[in-house]
Parts: sequence; C-alpha cells; structure tokens
Amino acid sequence: MRKVCLLIIIAYVFINGTFAQIIDNENLIVTHGPWLQNLDANGVTVIWTTNKPAVPGVNITGPDGKIRFVRNSHDGIIDGGGMTHKVRVNGLESGTTYKYSVHSVQIMKYQAYKVYYGDTLVRKPVTFTTPDVKSEKVSFLVVNDVHNNSGKLASYLKKGNIGEKDFCIFNGDMVDFLQSPEELFSGFLDSSVMYFASAKPFYYVRGNHETRGYKAREIKYYFDFKDGMYYYGFDYGPVHFTVLDCGEDKPDNNKNYFGLADYDSYRAEELEWLKKEVKSEAFRNAGKRIVIIHMPIVKEEKQNNGMKYLSDYFGPVLNDAGVNLMLSAHTHRNTFYEPGKSGFSYPLLVNSNNSFIEIVVDRKEIKAVVKDVTGKQLAEYTID
Ligand SMILES: [Fe+2]
Repeated sequence: MRKVCLLIIIAYVFINGTFAQIIDNENLIVTHGPWLQNLDANGVTVIWTTNKPAVPGVNITGPDGKIRFVRNSHDGIIDGGGMTHKVRVNGLESGTTYKYSVHSVQIMKYQAYKVYYGDTLVRKPVTFTTPDVKSEKVSFLVVNDVHNNSGKLASYLKKGNIGEKDFCIFNGDMVDFLQSPEELFSGFLDSSVMYFASAKPFYYVRGNHETRGYKAREIKYYFDFKDGMYYYGFDYGPVHFTVLDCGEDKPDNNKNYFGLADYDSYRAEELEWLKKEVKSEAFRNAGKRIVIIHMPIVKEEKQNNGMKYLSDYFGPVLNDAGVNLMLSAHTHRNTFYEPGKSGFSYPLLVNSNNSFIEIVVDRKEIKAVVKDVTGKQLAEYTID
C-alpha cells in the first residue's frame, strides 16, 4: 500500500511540473551579451539572453548620477517572459556618457491568473557614450566574411584597437548559415561582446550567407536594425552611411533555394527606397557619404545574378548621388577601384576574408587602412 501511495505522489508531482521545479536549482544567469544596437544621439537598444524566462529592464545612470529604470511595453503589455531580451532606452543626450546595467527578473511560472517570480539578476554597469551630433570626426572598423571564425574576428578586433573606435561594421557573411541562434553566438557575437559590443555598437550588414538556413528568418530578433529593415541610413559625425542589402547571389529559381527565394521583388522594393534615400536631406547635406553593401556594385563582364542586378539598377542611382566611398566584401579578395574604374563615379574598397579596414573620416578626407589578421598594414587609401 505504501508503494502504491509513493507511486501516486511521484506521478502527481511529475504531472504538475513540481518535480521539475524541485530539481531545477540552476540560478538565473545572463547567457549572452549584453550588446548595444541602433545607438544614436538620443537612444540605444540593449540586447541580452538569459538561461530562464525573465522580465527585462535596464538601469541607466546619467552624468547627474540619477538612475532611471527602463522597461519596454507593446500594446499595453510589459515585454517579458522570453529568454532573449531587447530594451530600447530613449531620452538620452547627444555626446554624453552613461552607465547601464541589465536587470532580469526570473519568471518561475506564467499563467493567466498566477505569475511567480524568482531571482532578480543585475549585471555590473557598463559605460557607453552617445554620438555627438556636432562631431567632425568618426572612426570605425570594417570586418566581413568571418564565416563563423570567431578566433579570426578576435584578432581583427584586438589588432584594430576596437576600444579606440566609435563602432564596428560587420559587412556580411559573419556566419555560413543559420540553423540555430548558437551559430550567431559562437560565430561572432560572444567574441564581439568580449571585446567591445557591450560598450560600443556594431552595424550588421546582411550578406548572402546570412540568408541561408531555417533561422535566417529570425535574425532581426537578435539585433535592432533601424526602422526594422536590413537597408537603412544613419548618421555618425560628418558621415551619412547608407547600408544596403545585396540579397542572394543566384537567381531565385536556382535549385539550391528549393523554391524559397524571392530576392527579385525584394531588391526592386529596396531600389525604390534607395532612390528616395539619395534625395533625402540627411544624405544630401552630409559632409561625406559612405555606402556599405556586402556584394560590390561594380560593372564587370561576368557577374552572378545578384551582382548583375545591383550593377544594372543600384549602380546608376548611386553614380549620380555623390557617393564618396563604397565598402564591400564577398569576393574574398582585396581590391580597390579608383573612381570610374568600378564603372561608376565612386571609389570602391573591397575587403577580403583575411583582412580588416580601419577608417577615419573628417570633413577633409576619408582615410582607410587595410590590415591583415596579424595587424600588418596591406594598403592605405586617402580619399579627398
Ligand atoms: Fe558573400
């Protein structure tokens, strides 16, 4: 009889999940991050993940020492209950240094009429500075085609002194494909956080490899792209940056896409956006204009389908727009095209999969230095 009772009790605790809670004595921890996104003069987005469902918040401290606690809500509901957390902090001042710490409150049980909270975890504060809208100078690193080699990325970041730069641009193919978020973390995100991404932002430009795999549909979940798009413009110092999305390289009906590619119509929509972008005040009034796109926009005899479309349709729009520099990747070769040599009016710098670029821009000129993985200088370009 006692054995029967014991079995009934064990069955009950299993059914109610109580047993799982009894043996689940792992503490709430931050598993990845935090990393900063979409930093502008007035706001920043902070993203991190936890090992258990939580309600996220950010403590932010300004120069006056006052702490503000920020949580986001959508449609009247406070964000929370998941394990990937994204908090937008607005109301910041240009050119100002802040401290922030990520704040996670564990949710033990989330039912319609009962919510049980567990641990509260507050990480140590990290300092960041908003861009100064009056700044006459900006410096950044460009890295691309890392293809999950986080060790190589770490070398680029160390040799490129990322701590002294304003931000980093990841110009596509940072991973081979996306079947799991783990590929983002082990491929480049964890290394980025280790070296800079909690204190300085990066801009993630989609390459063709980021379109591959089931989880490619969920990239936006882990980052904060301006206006929620892979193509957008942003301003930093004297520069207006135009970020473009090249899409896939092969035709949509290529057998490798199994009927799941629709880049012809996507690029056509992007083209209409680009025509408006080059007429925008931010673009026209900028001291310098830099276009960033994974696949180079260049006129060449033999080109893949994606590059031919970009050359045929995007190139002419940019040709007349007064672009000071285009930064590209994809070919795994270092190439510099003087203005006109690309078939268009802009100079084009293509970075290989074994080098990075350090760029400094002021009102006078753009200076780009290409270095290999050991930090050895390979080339230097000055664009007036
Ligand atoms: Fe590529």
